[in-house]
Amino acid sequence: MKIVFASNNKNKIIELQSMLPESVTILSLESIGCHEEIPETASTIEGNAILKANYVTQKYGYDCFADDTGLEVLALDGAPGVYSARYAGEQRNPEDNMNLLLKNLTDKETRAAQFKTVIALNLNGEQHLFTGIAKGEITLEKIGNQGFGYDPIFQPEGYIETFAQLPLELKNEISHRGKATKQLLAHLKNKS
Ligand code: IMP
Repeated sequence: MKIVFASNNKNKIIELQSMLPESVTILSLESIGCHEEIPETASTIEGNAILKANYVTQKYGYDCFADDTGLEVLALDGAPGVYSARYAGEQRNPEDNMNLLLKNLTDKETRAAQFKTVIALNLNGEQHLFTGIAKGEITLEKIGNQGFGYDPIFQPEGYIETFAQLPLELKNEISHRGKATKQLLAHLKNKS
């Protein structure tokens, strides 16, 4: 089985390939000749994952999966959500994004939040969605220097550390992306 992962992140591709049986080959966008930027214009996280997977399947004819992630904050009606990468502007700067989020939460009573990852998989003419959620709270300030994005201000449920303080292996075990990926891997192993 050959399947495209609609991502330009080589590390993610290598990591996933290492978790799958030899009968499943993960192809990168580069290796199928897809060098253009795939539109991410949907208004939901699910919608963007589907857009990306469908783009590759329809234009290049490959089975494909794509992921999209957002941070949903309860007191902000689910913002930044699908706009997480560019919350503070098109410069897509994590520091700016975190500063704006902390500012917008200053007077709010609840700091509850969740990360959500959706993986859309097109396989043998069928589409499947896998969703992973990590619940937690937005801290009052940035703590820790590991990880990326909003990690320094996200404290997962059941932990006193932020994602940016936890070892990567532990984060992967409990994270939104880790949970969605586990479901994808189980499905692919079952079908291979
Ligand atoms: P993407 O869909 O994986 O590109 O994620 C969109 C945006 O969500 C990223 O640019 C980050 O700002 C944020 N994000 C996604 N995953 C994480 C995470 O595991 N930790 C912190 N921020 C994340």
